[in-house]
Amino acid sequence: MVREDAVEVRDLRQHAGREVTIQGWVQTVREHGKVAFVVVRDGTGVVQTVLVQKQLGQALWQMATGLAQESTVAVRGTVRKEPRAPGGCEIAVTNLVLLAGSEEYPLQPKEHGIDFLLDHRHLWLRSSQQHAILRVRAEVEQAIHDFFYARNFVRIDTPILSGAIGESAGTLFETDYFGERAFLAQTGQLYVEAAAAALRKVYCFGPTFRAEKSKTRRHLTEFWMVEPEVAFADSEDNMRLQEELVTYVVGRAVERCGEELAILERDTSALEPVRPPFPRISYTDAVALLRGRGSDMQWGDDLGGNDETILSQTSDLPVFVYNYPRQAKAFYMKENPEDPRTVLCNDLLAPDGYGEIVGGSQREDDHGRLLARIREEQLPEHAYGWYLDLRRYGTFPHSGFGLGIERTLAWITGRRHVRELIPFPRMLNRLTP
Ligand code: 4AD
Ligand code: MG
Repeated sequence: MVREDAVEVRDLRQHAGREVTIQGWVQTVREHGKVAFVVVRDGTGVVQTVLVQKQLGQALWQMATGLAQESTVAVRGTVRKEPRAPGGCEIAVTNLVLLAGSEEYPLQPKEHGIDFLLDHRHLWLRSSQQHAILRVRAEVEQAIHDFFYARNFVRIDTPILSGAIGESAGTLFETDYFGERAFLAQTGQLYVEAAAAALRKVYCFGPTFRAEKSKTRRHLTEFWMVEPEVAFADSEDNMRLQEELVTYVVGRAVERCGEELAILERDTSALEPVRPPFPRISYTDAVALLRGRGSDMQWGDDLGGNDETILSQTSDLPVFVYNYPRQAKAFYMKENPEDPRTVLCNDLLAPDGYGEIVGGSQREDDHGRLLARIREEQLPEHAYGWYLDLRRYGTFPHSGFGLGIERTLAWITGRRHVRELIPFPRMLNRLTP
């Protein structure tokens, strides 16, 4: 087999009339008398290859028509324009080499249950909807980096292992670190706060870990987050940065992933109007609105999933809910000088019940108040010496937020459960594959 002329299926159109070789996996084999069609997927696209019995000889014909799904093959042939074929062209086969056979493939076009699919996630990734999801994910991640790069943010890689609890003690994965207690990062925030004092505008992007014992469609135990942190930004600036980022990311997905979103049957007309300003409602007004709709929640309670859904249905745009009661939020949020029962923070709720995609706040920059909050929450004080230092050596107003990649993707792709938005989901009871 000549490999010099190996091409990717995505580029086939530009090779029309030429003889090329593709390498990939067999999707289907159909025989119509003396002609057979072997559909091959190479990871960049899918192409129909056409075999004519009398041109190939008996041995090759028999091998090709007997190919099992997912066999690895190299196919050589001439590229022909064929408007009826997917991708607009097909390959008239001159040779086909079986590189590796396949056993009976467990995934069939019939409907499988979600547990079966997740058990076979390593194979499920080969299906067209999953390709589409992974491509949208890659585009969204790239868009995030481009957004911050264009604004002169410096990317900071923050540690996964830490002695400090980033968010709350309730959902920690703990591990032994040479005799010391260490935790898997729930957030990179505390570290980007330190970096903001060095570089002003920074962000981290990475996996974060929460031992969420609840089974919901919005929770993973390992999820990815982008967390910008900006020196001299207040809570208002912070919300503006969030709506700009979300608008940019959604716009990029719509602009560059049209094909993928069509495969996922996502109606993009719901995404096209997304642009600033997003509606803003204070927590206190949100409680009044929810109580008016029959909720019995009390001022001070955190919003539940249903409450968020109701609020998100008040607009076609994402909705900011700001200034929550401090007992509902993490220790590092700045006390609201106009109402000390609340903190200067916000959540951003995606439309249509996709839930909270961003959590952000202005940070407590007063040493005494921050120390009091660490004590109040009974956090291991000795682990926060360095974090408190940031308030001892030139403290400064600063704000930041975390945008959850999988939840944002759930909204963009129209999938209701976050488990499909990450290549290998980690959830309660799921560590394999
Ligand atoms: O609201 P959270 O907990 O905020 C923080 O971690 C802050 N330290 C961020 C910051 O200010 N730098 O989480 C931020 C976002 C949520 O809005 C949600 O999108 C996502 O992270 N998220 C989860 N996604 C999937 N599974 C989980 N268990 C998640 N927990 C949070
Ligand atoms: Mg949150």
